[in-house]
Order: sequence, then structure tokens, then C-alpha cells
Amino acid sequence: MKRIGVLTSGGDTPGMNSAIRAVLKTGIAMGMQVMGVYHGYKGLIEGRVDYLSHEKVENKMHKGGTILRTARSEVFKTEEGINKAISVLRAYGIEGLIVIGGDGSFRGCMELVKRGVPTIGIPGTIDNDMGYTDFTIGFDTAVNNVMNEIYKIRDTMRAHDRVGVIEVMGRNCGDIALWAGVGGAADLILVPERPMSWEDAANRLAQNKLRGKYTSIVMIAEGAGKAEDFAEYVRQHTDVEIKATVLGYIQRGGNPSAFDRVLASRLGQRAVELLAENDYGKAVGIRRNKIYEVPLDEAVGMRDRFDNKLYDLNTVMAQF
Ligand code: F6P
Repeated sequence: MKRIGVLTSGGDTPGMNSAIRAVLKTGIAMGMQVMGVYHGYKGLIEGRVDYLSHEKVENKMHKGGTILRTARSEVFKTEEGINKAISVLRAYGIEGLIVIGGDGSFRGCMELVKRGVPTIGIPGTIDNDMGYTDFTIGFDTAVNNVMNEIYKIRDTMRAHDRVGVIEVMGRNCGDIALWAGVGGAADLILVPERPMSWEDAANRLAQNKLRGKYTSIVMIAEGAGKAEDFAEYVRQHTDVEIKATVLGYIQRGGNPSAFDRVLASRLGQRAVELLAENDYGKAVGIRRNKIYEVPLDEAVGMRDRFDNKLYDLNTVMAQF
């Protein structure tokens, strides 16, 4: 392959820039030209394509967001949109495409592969909701972002003998809540994978108070409900004083962690190697610290594997 393209799609994640850099540098090392497609599939349809260069990625590795920008495109889901995207790729002479994004973005890759466009998916989402890979790019940074906020919230909750309930992102996946909760010594973690009635959860907080533990931190994944709704339930059914915080986009921004930069570099390199080997229609991932690839349809169909053992560990830690 002489010319390949790369785009970022869906929610941005810290580490996407490291992956773009790795794609560019590996491509150049293999004698390819690398084009950047701006604003995801939407930009592809609109022909927003330009050469990538060392200068464009220089000093961006440590920055959050994505230098290629991103978007969620409804048009790309239509036959007309996909055909337009393919005609743009042909017009620019792009022979292979690398897409950095989540599940929805990978479905887009599959549509392109079906129509003969060599495409590779790199997992980029803070949600860590792709079961074929142990980690997705951005998850580690998001967990660290959340964990750092937990300690700030705990300080003020303790000063008032209050409970703090913290809502985090993740769509239907509880991984951010789980990992940040374990790292932040949360007393209760509410995630969709381990449903707990709000009655039970509220009782636990009331019991904590009875035995003299006035301050608790509750993590709630957005897939398990809203922090403010839970806080209101607790207020109405117990005498626990509780305050809700929704962390929002603060968890998706900021400098990527070392783990995410290294993971993104490894995945970016492997994606280009696969295109060079004409082994496309694959998603790259990491399992037991080894970079590997699976067919895209397998990657998309695989449910997230929730770490029940880690969840149970936290329950034990929170007992006393
Ligand atoms: O998929 C990443 C994510 O941040 C989810 O955790 C969250 O539900 C969603 O994106 C937010 O989407 P948007 O950026 O469109 O508000």
C-alpha cells in the first residue's frame, strides 16, 4: 500500500493523538504516505482530508482530545453516505483506512470492508466496553482523572460528615466506576453489571452511619442511574446527608497517562503493519499485555467482560 488514511470517530479519548502519531511514523517508516481525515466519518463524507506530517504530530503525544477532531455521523449510516465516503477515499487514492474509535465506529469499519475498503479498527473509548480487548485507549486516563476527583470530594464530605455520590461516564459499562472506585477506596459501587436496588444501597449507607462511619463515597456509573436521583432517594428514606456530583467531561479530557500513550503507540503500529500485510477487516487489541488482532465482527459482537472479582474485592474493602 502506498497511501493510507487515519481518522478518529465518536467520543474523543486521551491517547488518540499518540495513536495517530504511531500510525504516521510507522507508515512513513514503511514507505507510505499517511493522510489525516478530519472530523471522523462525517469529515470523510465531506472530503476533509489532508496530508499528515511529522510537524502536525510533533508535541501532541501528551495532549488530550484529537488533532484530527472527531464526530458522530448519522449520514455515514446511510447507503448514500457510505458510498460518498468511498468515493472520497478513491479520489484521494487512499488504499487503506485506520479508524480509532469505539463500537459504533467499528461497525462503520465493517461497512467499508464489506464494500472492499481495507480497514483496521483501533479501540479508542474511555468506556472500556469492548470485550475483545483488556483495555481501550483512554480508559486508564479517565480512571485516573476520576480517582483524583474522588479524593477532593472526600475531603469536603468528611468535613461535614456527609456521603458523596459521584456519577461517572461509561454508557452501559461500569468499568470506570469500578476501577476508579477501587483506586479511590469507594464504599459502594453502583454499576449496571451488578444490579443493586436503591433500597439496599440506601440501607447500607444508613447502617454505615449507625456504626459511626459518617462519610462514605458512592460511585455510580451512568448506566446504573443518575447521582441526583439516588441522592434524593437516600434523603427520602434515611437520615443520611448526601450530596451528588456529576463529573461529566472532566473525566474525558487532560493529558493521557503513560499507559494510554504506550498502548496507543503499540496499537497504532500494529494497525499499519496489518494494512501493509493486506490482513485487513481486523480490530487490534491487547490481551495479557500482548498486542493481537481479531476479525472486526468478532470484536463488535463480544460483550464486555466485567471483572466480578474486582467488584467483590471492593465490597470486602468497604466492610470496615
Ligand atoms: O463513549 C464515551 C462517552 O464519553 C460515554 O461515556 C458517554 O456516555 C458519552 O460518550 C457522551 O457522549 P457525548 O460526547 O456525545 O456527550
